[in-house]
Amino acid sequence: MTSDCKPYRCRMIARPLRQFLDEQESVDGYPALSEAKEAVLDDPSRVMVVMEGEEVVALGAVKVRDTPGGTERAAFETVVPRPMRFAEFEDRVVAETVALIPNGVPYTAWSRRLSLDAALERRGMVVVRSLAEMAVPLPIPTDLDERDSIPVRSFSERDIDALIQINHAAFGDHPEAGLLDRTELTELMDESWFDPDGILLHESGGEAAGFCWTKVHPNGEGEVYRIGVDPAHRGKGLGRALTLAGYDYLSREKRCTSGFLWVDEANGAAVSMYESIGLSIRSRNREFAPSG
Ligand SMILES: CC(C)(COP(=O)(O)OP(=O)(O)OC[C@H]1O[C@@H](n2cnc3c(N)ncnc32)[C@H](O)[C@@H]1OP(=O)(O)O)[C@@H](O)C(=O)NCCC(=O)NCCS
Repeated sequence: MTSDCKPYRCRMIARPLRQFLDEQESVDGYPALSEAKEAVLDDPSRVMVVMEGEEVVALGAVKVRDTPGGTERAAFETVVPRPMRFAEFEDRVVAETVALIPNGVPYTAWSRRLSLDAALERRGMVVVRSLAEMAVPLPIPTDLDERDSIPVRSFSERDIDALIQINHAAFGDHPEAGLLDRTELTELMDESWFDPDGILLHESGGEAAGFCWTKVHPNGEGEVYRIGVDPAHRGKGLGRALTLAGYDYLSREKRCTSGFLWVDEANGAAVSMYESIGLSIRSRNREFAPSG
């Protein structure tokens, strides 16, 4: 089988590209690309496609972002179908994707498959972060009616500043979650999945003390998309109550029968909280960086 690496010509291959990504999602059971990499698909300088004739057979996508320090950082993902997941091809797709990264910009790669893990390791890259996908059947049975243990109310447009502030208090300088600003929040509010009722806010003394932001996916699964508690209010059961309130909303209002979330495995407080609620790990997404 021969393959040609071609520069991405969006108008000409937009449809086969979409078809390829959808097929991979249905085979693997998870989106072929993260939201961040999906967002670069219309930028030819950030996408590499391997074609066989008119068919897309593999893809690499690079996201370059500015850090608060004013420097750039890149992250990439590759999509390779199951029959092509042999070492030589995985290595080639990685190499062609790395070639898209501007010279001198530090980069990492994200991997959800063993054959890509191995390709990245062959390049001397090492795991620097591991995100766990944890899942739970809904509704979550609770001994007490914990969902009513704290009052929550839904988000509205007048809460934009309060949500940014409580998100920053909860996540601090977290590399992605901590950076939520008005621009990013208003962009998210324009997304088709955005549901203001699915953001639950808990207040204490008239100020937001914690929030649970939920998201319903096209396959019907309900995600706790983001949850945070102000450090001044931690350790009092708020995180647990907000997580339960989020899944209760997804189950009762959105009829989800399965819930999930993503958590950094280094975040011991959150992992033990989710385990105590009944979630367990079903997959991992690992970030690799060049060693040394
Ligand atoms: C994770 C977070 C939401 C927990 O909120 P919280 O209100 O402090 O949590 P709770 O008081 O409800 O604790 C519930 C359980 O979590 C676990 N937990 C909470 N804090 C913990 C800590 N510092 N160390 C270990 N376990 C901890 C415990 O299992 C606890 O159960 P217990 O009370 O029986 O011991 C909060 O620490 C936070 O906002 N962190 C920053 C944002 C974040 O990491 N969000 C999750 C991203 S996926």
